[in-house]
Amino acid sequence: MAFTTSKLFSTFLLLDIFISLSMHSTSAARNPLPKTNTDFIKTSCTVTSYPKLCFTSLSAHANAIQASPQLLAGTALNVTLSSAKSTSNLMVLLSRSQGINPREVAAMKDCIEELSDSVDELGKSINEMGQLKGTNFNLVINDIQTWVSAALTDESTCTDGFAGKSMNGNLKITVKDRIVNVAQLTSNALALINKFALIHG
Ligand SMILES: *[C@@H]1O[C@H](CO)[C@@H](O)[C@H](O)[C@H]1NC(C)=O
Repeated sequence: MAFTTSKLFSTFLLLDIFISLSMHSTSAARNPLPKTNTDFIKTSCTVTSYPKLCFTSLSAHANAIQASPQLLAGTALNVTLSSAKSTSNLMVLLSRSQGINPREVAAMKDCIEELSDSVDELGKSINEMGQLKGTNFNLVINDIQTWVSAALTDESTCTDGFAGKSMNGNLKITVKDRIVNVAQLTSNALALINKFALIHG
């Protein structure tokens, strides 16, 4: 008797788990295929040099990206541009702050200029992504690849400026980490664009 009761109990327990699991999958089903979409991002990110950053920066947009290599590359560009803009704004603020010596200000200004170039290049690339309609695909994607590469070069030049001893510890760490992040996002976006170009072409 005791055996039967406990068996019955565990059956109910299993049933309960089953019901709560299926309720979970029902609520998940309201967003179309979220698991599949994040899987697509994860798989696509393996072609990048910074796959973890690639996934964390793009997974929030999984539902918009779905399984489109073009939307994935476009979103990567947009995420990169907004990060480049906010880093640039931060640097402008920091360069005006008290207690920064002239050498630091000079290094910051060079970097702000390079970041500003990279913001322009990323912006042009994003505009061109909107023009990708088939007829001039190779021409347009080539321009985009060129601009994003140029943006990456500008950001790297900026990071190199921090390699010297012209900056104090805290300022250097704050700014450098941000720029490295922008450069890594740019590198990832370029890899996703190259992959998209290959698939399409
Ligand atoms: C990227 O941003 C542009 C400009 O805001 C927008 O038109 C475009 O739809 C965005 N691309 C993606 C893939 O979200």
